[in-house]
This record gives sequence, structure tokens and C-alpha cells, in this order.
Amino acid sequence: MGYNVAIDGPAGAGKSTIARLVAKEKGYIYVDTGAMYRGLAIHFLDQGIGAGETERVIEACKDADVKIRYEDGIQQVYLNGTNITGRLRDEAVGQMTSKCSAIPEVREKLLDLQRELARTQDVIMDGRDIGTCVLPDADVKVYLTASVKTRAKRRYDELAAKGESCSLDEIERDIEERDERDMNRETAPLRQAEDAVLVDSSDMTIEDVVRTIAGLCK
Ligand code: DC
Repeated sequence: MGYNVAIDGPAGAGKSTIARLVAKEKGYIYVDTGAMYRGLAIHFLDQGIGAGETERVIEACKDADVKIRYEDGIQQVYLNGTNITGRLRDEAVGQMTSKCSAIPEVREKLLDLQRELARTQDVIMDGRDIGTCVLPDADVKVYLTASVKTRAKRRYDELAAKGESCSLDEIERDIEERDERDMNRETAPLRQAEDAVLVDSSDMTIEDVVRTIAGLCK
């Protein structure tokens, strides 16, 4: 069994940035499970399937092969043999992912892959249900959050830095919508595991958060 660190939390809490840095410091493999769900969502979108078409989504899962590879230490996501890493963060993909990830068959599709990665190596895995469902026996569990305003501002700055125009209010609304869906779905909703350490990064720097989480790990 590998050494397993689980980081869960809402959209925009900084999970991937922090997990990547802790992984580097500690020599763990960083597993971004959101990217796997996003890979499946791209498969559905490319077939013209809408988020409300549950039966078609379930059917389309059968011929989706999502694979994770590490190239120069960076996670790459392949969908049926094509590297789709560059498309993962598109806004439309994020919304579709949040909707489709509520479908139990979609979650089932990725569960074994996630557990297998954690079984064979030391990982820091981030997502929504890692500490509660995917790796209930993880060595360290963290629930990383921040206020909606902070998360929206971070996302706004990220998009602005890429030269993309966006409205802060709209981003805030999207985040609230996504929180609502991720926390209230029936299967594997986002919630803090009983044995998870709560880290609220609203008033912390990235370095503070990395130091806090790395301090919990071996
Ligand atoms: O972490 P992210 O923004 O890349 O995740 C995109 C969506 O995927 C998110 O809205 C909820 C879903 N997700 C999930 O349901 N379970 C996970 N372990 C990871 C992500």
C-alpha cells in the first residue's frame, strides 16, 4: 500500500496548486481526479450529449477510456488515446463535469482507476470524495476550503492573466452553483470527512497552506 494523502474541497479552493507543490516537496505522485472527470465530460461533449441526457451519458461511458500518464512528472490525460490535457480547464467542460459527476455510473467508471493508483504508489490525490469514499483509510485527510469571494477572485485573476475577459459576479455565481451541486448530490457528495483536518485558505498565502499540509504528512 502506498502512503496516501487525500485533499478534498470545493471548486477554486486551490487544491491542485497546493497538492502539486506538496507532491513535489515530499516526492509523491499528484493525482488530480477532477481531471479524470473532466476527461469523461469531454467525451460526452464531443458526442453532442447534453448534461441532462443521463441515459446517453451512461451509454457513452462504455466506450470512454480515460488514462493518466506522467510525462516529465506532469499529469497528462488521454481520452481514447488522444491527449486532451489542454482542453480540461475550459469553462464549458467544468460545468458539464459538475453535472455528469453526479451520475453514479460515471463515478463507478473512475473509482477503480483512482484506487489502483493509490494502492501502488505514494500519492496526494485531490477531489471531492477522496477522504470520504475513494480512500477512506488515507494516512492524511485534508478539507481545503476558502470563502466564495476569495475563490471567485482567484479564478478571476487566473482568467485575467490569460487575457480572457470575464465578470467577477458571473464567476461568483458559477462557483455557488457548482458548490450547491457538488455538496447536495446523492452519490459521494462533497463533505468534510470526520477525520479530515480543516484548512481555510481565505487569509493564507500558498506557502502557508503548503507548509501546513506538508507538516501533516510523513
Ligand atoms: O476539481 P475540478 O474543478 O477539476 O472538478 C471538476 C468537477 O468534477 C467538480 O465540479 C466535481 C467533479 N469531481 C467530483 O465529483 N469528484 C472528484 N473526486 C473530483 C471532481
